Amino acid sequence: MTRSWANPLRDERDKRLPRIAGPCGLVIFGVTGDLSRKKLMPAIYDLANRGLLPPGFSLVGFARREWEDQDFGQVVYEAVKQHARTPFREQVWDRLAEGFRFVQGTFDDDTAFDKLAETVAELDELRGTSGNHAFYLSIPPGAFPVVTQQLARSGLAKPTHPDQWRRVVIEKPFGHDLASARQLNKVLNDVFPEDSVFRIDHYLGKETVQNLLALRFANQLFEPIWNANYVDHVQITMAEDIGLGGRAGYYDGIGAARDVIQNHLLQLLALTAMEEPVSFRPKALRTEKIKVLEATKVIGPCAETTARGQYLGGWQGGQKVPGLLEEAGFDKNSTTETYAAITLEVNTRRWAGVPFFLRTGKRLGRRVTEIAVVFKRAPHLPFDDTATEELGQNALVVRVQPDEGVTLRFGSKVPGNQMEVRDVSMDFSYGHAFTESSPEAYERLLLDVLLGEPSLFPVNEEVELSWEILDPVLKHWQTAGKPEGYPAGTWGPEAADKMLSRTGRHWRRP
Ligand SMILES: NC(=O)c1ccc[n+]([C@@H]2O[C@H](COP(=O)([O-])OP(=O)(O)OC[C@H]3O[C@@H](n4cnc5c(N)ncnc54)[C@H](OP(=O)(O)O)[C@@H]3O)[C@@H](O)[C@H]2O)c1
Repeated sequence: MTRSWANPLRDERDKRLPRIAGPCGLVIFGVTGDLSRKKLMPAIYDLANRGLLPPGFSLVGFARREWEDQDFGQVVYEAVKQHARTPFREQVWDRLAEGFRFVQGTFDDDTAFDKLAETVAELDELRGTSGNHAFYLSIPPGAFPVVTQQLARSGLAKPTHPDQWRRVVIEKPFGHDLASARQLNKVLNDVFPEDSVFRIDHYLGKETVQNLLALRFANQLFEPIWNANYVDHVQITMAEDIGLGGRAGYYDGIGAARDVIQNHLLQLLALTAMEEPVSFRPKALRTEKIKVLEATKVIGPCAETTARGQYLGGWQGGQKVPGLLEEAGFDKNSTTETYAAITLEVNTRRWAGVPFFLRTGKRLGRRVTEIAVVFKRAPHLPFDDTATEELGQNALVVRVQPDEGVTLRFGSKVPGNQMEVRDVSMDFSYGHAFTESSPEAYERLLLDVLLGEPSLFPVNEEVELSWEILDPVLKHWQTAGKPEGYPAGTWGPEAADKMLSRTGRHWRRP
């Protein structure tokens, strides 16, 4: 990968100074969208506020509204005021706003893309963006082919000098099955070489997810027991309490497994199960993740090892909420699942015989994402049965969100004259242990795009391998009738509980 700008006096290992992006600009397609307003534009301001963007940084918005540069500026202003993480500072804002430009057009409009190319060239002249530009496709995936083709046609996709870079950033869904993912990768790679494609999986931008690597590989304590000799099973959960009101267009026909398991949960599995990389260079990290994904398969038969549900109306947080089929925009006969659980095995010596249970759902008991490594019971308990009847299995739980941290669960003697052992928790919480707050995932990821640091972005091979894992389940569900209903505010359909109880286990209540 070319690096157009580097400070010769700067040692990259020196942590006293933060890494600042070199001269560059960002073009966002879909600036009127939800993602852009809630996450991208606020993250850009937060990066500017933290001094991590170059002085001439420029932001170009592309949309079909008839706006002038100032109107676009106003939209960014409102998004920043409403959603930025860091305090608003007039001086930072004024400087950032000098680099805002707006280009009006639709995706099939050659003239608009030629105008975009002119605007970008002007920015290189006027603001010193030096021919380095990232294109963020915050648009429906169906529009990726036309936009990448337009970027190629207008000459925007290719740098004009070897020291310059052009990068493209895309959001999930990366296809809806293996075949469509391959097709999408081809569309992208025909125009952008793989090292200039940045696929956002915002989970990988979270501190707690990166901390998994620190927890496992910076400590002596956990790694010796991180294997099938000691681990009974792993549960990876992403639960949301919200429903899908207003999101029918995106979600109906997609469902929980494609929306969350294919990307976020399989990435969490890869980081949990992978071997120690030889270094933290992007290639070394990717190699280990790919090895895990290659070794991962669904345990069958799917009728017993997977579960699927759709939320029904009910009460949540003291409010009456509608079921999926009553939500506006959803087909009344929709078979889209809002809950999905699957059982996987990782066929390596380290993990042989250890099931990985992955689950995700909407309108569940509460919003929580966690990875729970559940250990085997001690091989012998030199106590009376009654002394340990309240003792569960030891567990290490990485709390990804909210209340980020790590919990270790183990047995402890209850005070008193008798020997009685019960589960207790030892807790690390980011909020208590560190004074600085974690940056938003999008701050980290956008900065990495501008720095050309690809470690936290899944590559085409990872995406395709993840679909290979999930496709057999999707195929089974296609012919398995309707998903089972579950009342809003509960922890999913009965089938999910049976899926675990058949193996003599149960889901943790996060
Ligand atoms: N929102 C999230 O939190 C989230 C999370 C994960 C992934 N994503 C992904 O991120 C992308 C954007 O999501 P979103 O929620 O922001 O979507 P959205 O609210 O539906 O916005 C889509 C944007 O694309 C523009 N657009 C669509 N068709 C166009 C056309 N033919 N010509 C010009 N502009 C067009 C829309 O412009 P108009 O306003 O003119 O219609 C709008 O700005 C999608 O790929 C989505 O799957 C979003």
